[in-house]
Amino acid sequence: MPTTTHDVIIIGSGAAGLTAAINLAQDRKVVVLAKGALDGGSTNWAQGGIAAVLDAGDSFQAHVDDTMVAGAGLNDRATVEFVVSEAPAAIDRLAALGVPFNAGEDFGDRWHLTREGGHSHRRIVHVDDATGHAVQVALLKAARANPNITLVEDMVALDLITSRHGERYSGDGHVWGVYAFNKKTKHVDALLGRATILCTGGAGRTYLFSTAPRGATGDGIAMAWRAGCRVSNMEMNQFHPTCLYNLEVKNFLITEAVRGEGGHLKLPPGVPGGGERFMPRFDPREELAPRDIVARAIDHEIKRLGLDYVHLDISHKEPEFVKHHFPTIYARLLDLDIDITKEPIPVVPAQHYTCGGVIIDLDGRTDLPGLYAAGEVTESGLHGANRLASNSLLECFVFGEAAAQHIRAHWDSLPLPPPIRPWDESRVTNGDEEVIVQHNWKEIRRFMWDYVGIVRTTKRLERAQHRIDLLAREVDDYYGNFRVTPDLIELRNLLEVARLVVRSALHRKESRGLHYTLDYLDMLPDAIDTVLSP
Ligand code: FAD
Ligand code: SIN
Repeated sequence: MPTTTHDVIIIGSGAAGLTAAINLAQDRKVVVLAKGALDGGSTNWAQGGIAAVLDAGDSFQAHVDDTMVAGAGLNDRATVEFVVSEAPAAIDRLAALGVPFNAGEDFGDRWHLTREGGHSHRRIVHVDDATGHAVQVALLKAARANPNITLVEDMVALDLITSRHGERYSGDGHVWGVYAFNKKTKHVDALLGRATILCTGGAGRTYLFSTAPRGATGDGIAMAWRAGCRVSNMEMNQFHPTCLYNLEVKNFLITEAVRGEGGHLKLPPGVPGGGERFMPRFDPREELAPRDIVARAIDHEIKRLGLDYVHLDISHKEPEFVKHHFPTIYARLLDLDIDITKEPIPVVPAQHYTCGGVIIDLDGRTDLPGLYAAGEVTESGLHGANRLASNSLLECFVFGEAAAQHIRAHWDSLPLPPPIRPWDESRVTNGDEEVIVQHNWKEIRRFMWDYVGIVRTTKRLERAQHRIDLLAREVDDYYGNFRVTPDLIELRNLLEVARLVVRSALHRKESRGLHYTLDYLDMLPDAIDTVLSP
């Protein structure tokens, strides 16, 4: 089982990981790990765009205010101001790397800016309706061209290497790298470095229905927690209002920009009020209210009327306008026999974004020396109780850069890794019942959807906690006795994350942002983070 030593280890090859790698590679050698393909994270799937103040009529103050309103005041103002002020420079860096943002439609406008829920101004730069793919391609191209960056796919990080794993025990919690299951050799490698950056994305797959890719199993949050990091606001899971409802295609997002460009949410025909818009009944901002409000309104109408879905309709716009703005969605839905220029799209809410995560400071530092984090795996203070649309890619670029800069600036004070113990497989055998892993995966996702979803109650949360306690015994037992596999690693992490979400949700005795409970409908006067310590 090989042990390799690098300057810096980056776990994750999405927007956060590659941004950090490209900055660090100016003077350090970095290895970037992905647990599957290099473009397998959420970044590649992002549709709407990236929020930044780029229009003369807009202001940093307005972007800060919109972020804080969406976040129901739970955001950290200093973080919000930092990220918002860094946004224009982040967009310039991406443009310099070759991201082909759509040009402005009016003379003198550099970029076309679209609008999404919760934004008081047009401020989203985008590449048609497939911004994330364009970003992923440009970042990967730059990383591949850089001799200081080694990209390694099919390496599933399973636990951080801390001073506990040193040949001589030291209790300072320093992180020296990561143990990772190599899918090609089927063994666990140890990768050591002076600094490690967690960029592993979110935990959407904790839920049965999610817009996130298969690998969004919260590995980074679970690894950091086990290593000794605090996590915060794990109860704040964002549900996107408009995921395509289709029995075959289960997680295709319909970007919020469809509503930003005039799309309406309507009740489907055949029920009282069928064909009519319902958002005006829920919020004066109508379809462009923040996501938590729109998702709850849809959930309410679906439950009230016993529906499978509601309709999102943009067919009142000119067909050329629709095709021009949403070419990916138009083509994908036409394949499913839905012509969005002529008919509405059936949509339902689905889990979309993990607002909580590993606590970091403005330099991307976690609680543990040597460990940094950036992107969806973190709780930086930016999103608070509900993320404002298109603020998350932005967070990846800003904190990927900040972590890299801090490491470079403090390089001489980062100690070399000590000798560590290799992964010990001497007391485990091959798993005997794969069905346990598969069954438990499904069970977690099902009860999280049913009991820890858009509308919560204490009783449902307690039911979920009970299920987690039962499963924990089974999973710990299986993990302790059998050789690790990617599915088992992810199952253990899913369960850990589910436990953190439920614990945090039970702790919050109010409704705020994404945490809405029928037992505590009011919002308390003070906005207080839910911080869990290991
Ligand atoms: P990701 O891009 O998810 O990358 C995670 C990386 O970590 C991957 O390389 C993965 O292989 C690796 N990894 C994970 N676990 C392990 C492990 N155990 N070992 C090794 N590697 C591991 N945000 C916006 O701002 N604008 C949008 O328009 C937008 N649209 C979205 C649309 C969809 C459908 C989805 C799902 C999300 C969207 N988001 C959007 C959110 C945004 O895309 C993500 O928050 C962001 O891309 C996360 O980037 P990241 O670098 O943190 O992680
Ligand atoms: C979308 O395009 O609706 C997603 C935007 C986001 O998640 O920020």
